[in-house]
Amino acid sequence: MADLKEEKLPTHVAIIMDGNGRWAKQHGLRRVKGHEKGADSVREVVKVTRELGIPWLTLYAFSEENWKRPEYEINTLMKLLEQFLKKELHEMCDKGIRLRCIGRIYKLPASTRRMLDKAIQQTSNNRDMTLTLALSYGGRQEILDTVKRVVRLVETGKCRSEEIDENLFCQNLYLPDLPDPDLLIRTSGEYRISNFLLWQSAYTEFYFTPTLWPDFGREEYLAAIAEFQKRERRFGAAFD
Ligand code: FPP
Repeated sequence: MADLKEEKLPTHVAIIMDGNGRWAKQHGLRRVKGHEKGADSVREVVKVTRELGIPWLTLYAFSEENWKRPEYEINTLMKLLEQFLKKELHEMCDKGIRLRCIGRIYKLPASTRRMLDKAIQQTSNNRDMTLTLALSYGGRQEILDTVKRVVRLVETGKCRSEEIDENLFCQNLYLPDLPDPDLLIRTSGEYRISNFLLWQSAYTEFYFTPTLWPDFGREEYLAAIAEFQKRERRFGAAFD
């Protein structure tokens, strides 16, 4: 941590937590065991983010495409999420962490939604860090849902089509105040964005690592941030 420059810390880190299944296979275990171990990495990364004072962390916990997985695996992931919320609620309140989520949440099982609602409500006044879980989330779906909201605004006379701009669009995303991610980390050696935060990642810095998510911990997280601090961000502008 000593090597990181406080003034150059990212404001928002987003993570595609990939490789749980491969980790399990490598250890001769069932896929769900990889998810269980992956939940420990979630705890560690949340802890380090809070310690560093990074205010926004967004985790891709369940994609819209993940519904295609076997029922047993989906149920296990939902149960793990519920356990996480139950176990960590006290800690989140203690550490000033606000929980939120993005995605088509209405598709989640009722018991998971109940736990989420409770955790979101009980942490809503916390301001030291915001943990956003992307659940039943897809970037294209978010863009489509946003387009529908904007069309509705025009149809109901709340705005004119000439007024549609990036700002209006952003105001109608799932969470309008979620800043664009500065750093997006993807584990497991895949070099793709997999439908995560498509609109928001236009100028995001990417960090790809072959490490499988259950093996991703403090050391490598700090290394990813150190690498981010070396990048020159121009946002399309030119500097002499
Ligand atoms: C990708 O690995 C991971 C997921 C689909 C789910 C992520 C879930 C967790 C880390 C655990 C619970 C989450 C919380 C927030 C407590 P994969 O199964 O696609 O791995 P593979 O590509 O090696 O098969």
